[in-house]
Amino acid sequence: MSLLSYNMVVQKSPIDGAMLRKVAGELATGVTVVTTTVNGRFHGCTANAVTSVSLEPPLVMVCLAQTASTHPMISAAGVFAVNILPDTAAAKDICTTFAGKRDDKFSGITCHPGPTGAPLLTGTVGWFDCTIETTHDLGDHTAFIGRVVAAEQQGGCPLVFHRGQFHSLAN
Ligand SMILES: Cc1cc2nc3c(=O)[nH]c(=O)nc-3n(C[C@H](O)[C@H](O)[C@H](O)COP(=O)(O)O)c2cc1C
Repeated sequence: MSLLSYNMVVQKSPIDGAMLRKVAGELATGVTVVTTTVNGRFHGCTANAVTSVSLEPPLVMVCLAQTASTHPMISAAGVFAVNILPDTAAAKDICTTFAGKRDDKFSGITCHPGPTGAPLLTGTVGWFDCTIETTHDLGDHTAFIGRVVAAEQQGGCPLVFHRGQFHSLAN
């Protein structure tokens, strides 16, 4: 049996945004809040286009829409932190807050500056603190490649995102 026979809909180039989102939604990912700091103010947004790139040197990548207000802040700061969210009700609220467009996203959030100054949220399963190594504008997003200057695994169960919904690795 052909593999293609499992596909409900096959679309060939040009691929529209809806189809790209649908298929990309099959990639189960963790959920992060990417943060930075400019002139003493904290900024951040929810991101799941995040991946480890290289062990030596230690590099991670975050892809952000060029329309995200966090984008120019990370460019200006030259640093960012990746906060990996745990599978808790509070973290789901944090994900939603940071996926919005608000000036007061950090209100009520417990965090402290990491080594680069970018804020580290309390209670994550882990974090990377990075200085920007290089950036690449790719279509309507920018890939920020960060050199990891500090990292910590804090334990716990990560939040999982698949087909637009949260999932749990527990049970
Ligand atoms: C689970 C989830 C993952 C997301 N991943 C990304 C991502 O990887 N890159 C991105 O640019 N936006 C992503 N978004 C959307 C941004 O969080 C959203 O556009 C946000 O409003 C940006 O905030 P800002 O404009 O204040 O920076 C994601 C949203 C959700 C809910």
